[in-house]
Amino acid sequence: MDKFVIRGGNPLVGTVRISGAKNSALPCMAAALLTDETVTLENIPDVRDIETERKLLVAMGAEVELGYGRAHHRTTINCRKLDRAEATYDLVKTMRASTLVLGPLVARTGAARVSLPGGCAIGARPIDLHIKGLEKLGAVVTQEHGYIEAKADRLKGGHILFDKITVTGTEDLLMAAVLGDGETVMENCAREPEVADLANLLIKMGAKIEGVGTSTLKIHGVAKLHGAKHRIIPDRIEAGTFLIAAAMTGGDLIISGCDPQHLGALVQKLNECGVKVKQNGDSIRVMGDNPLTAADVSTEEYPGFPTDMQAQFMALATQADGTSVITENIFENRFMHAQEMVRMGANIKIEGRRAIVRGKTQLSAAAVLASDLRASASLVLAALVADGETIIDRVYHIDRGYERIEEKLRGVGAQIRRIGEMLPRKAQTAQPA
Ligand code: EPZ
Repeated sequence: MDKFVIRGGNPLVGTVRISGAKNSALPCMAAALLTDETVTLENIPDVRDIETERKLLVAMGAEVELGYGRAHHRTTINCRKLDRAEATYDLVKTMRASTLVLGPLVARTGAARVSLPGGCAIGARPIDLHIKGLEKLGAVVTQEHGYIEAKADRLKGGHILFDKITVTGTEDLLMAAVLGDGETVMENCAREPEVADLANLLIKMGAKIEGVGTSTLKIHGVAKLHGAKHRIIPDRIEAGTFLIAAAMTGGDLIISGCDPQHLGALVQKLNECGVKVKQNGDSIRVMGDNPLTAADVSTEEYPGFPTDMQAQFMALATQADGTSVITENIFENRFMHAQEMVRMGANIKIEGRRAIVRGKTQLSAAAVLASDLRASASLVLAALVADGETIIDRVYHIDRGYERIEEKLRGVGAQIRRIGEMLPRKAQTAQPA
């Protein structure tokens, strides 16, 4: 298992380019299941979850090309021949977003067999709202042996009012409804930019969707969708992670190829902490020359402060003068990073859904363990300011959602390197045949 070795103390200075959004690329790749024509997606991030999605689609019979050349990060997907409408446990357990194939498979083939995702480090992660929505659209859903089986000759229009705001639930059911027979109204939808990006792709494929970007989506089902070309939006969480890295290290960083519109809540919070941020088209410049002051954060659905930035903000809070109260409202177990930061010298107390962070504390390097994607990003941030050399194990978590983060960080002055598992030395003497 790869590790990162990071020596803290360098301010980040220069320009870093943001990759495409993983959480948009995943539903957009699943959308290709809805047509027998080719879907081409540009600006795909070179991260592990995309490779997992590729394997998942290929296992169903799709033809998937995925290339990361200098000029392009592109995938072309053709699902003309779908011979297995199934997402098996071995793939779903590594990436719960695999459940995004549920809606499009039922819509396109009339049946889907998808493994229940099971929980993950940050919470139970049920998909009951996905199932309830599919039933509202006329699917018969059964559950056995850890799998969901959904069937429908043809999904019909319906009215879905989400009990809770769910990002992939909204995406899954949007993809189910676009081929439904009739009109579907979905209320209390997620408004994350990745949902709008998926809707824009579906519209390019011939879907009829109103209310994109709002919490109420109205879909007029069509009989067939065609292929399309689409560019994935920039990754606002990767951009936010680098914003915080520059603020914490007292740097002067330009984050290019991002969409500042998607970062409103974070930029507002960073301003509150004394960080200077200047937006300029598709770039944001962050200057960390002011001392950081503490601020409270409460994670909310978009456009509120994103839960996917909570761990990174906690790392910043350890460097801010004063007490920051961080409240995690979305997931029930998303403070795994806190104890690892405490081992580095942070002063953090967890009280249920709240983390009380008292700063500023000088962090000291330690051997730490990554537990999930954003927790591992927060440990990298902590290591960038820690005194000494931090070793972060299980960085495969971070490779799921950040494209070559160590190269991007090194490119703006960080002292970071990846050490792979030492391959066992070859046996000196050849074994007898
Ligand atoms: C998406 O997960 C993102 N993943 C997550 O990003 C992100 O943290 C999350 O949205 C919240 O913004 C992708 O887009 C691939 P939810 P999702 O359904 O859709 C509960 C990352 O780091 N819920 O919006 O799974 C759920 O338990 C990942 O990139 C139900 O109760 O999250 C949670 O408490 C981590 N029943 C809340 O809703 C359901 O059927 C929000 O979850 C579905 C969800």
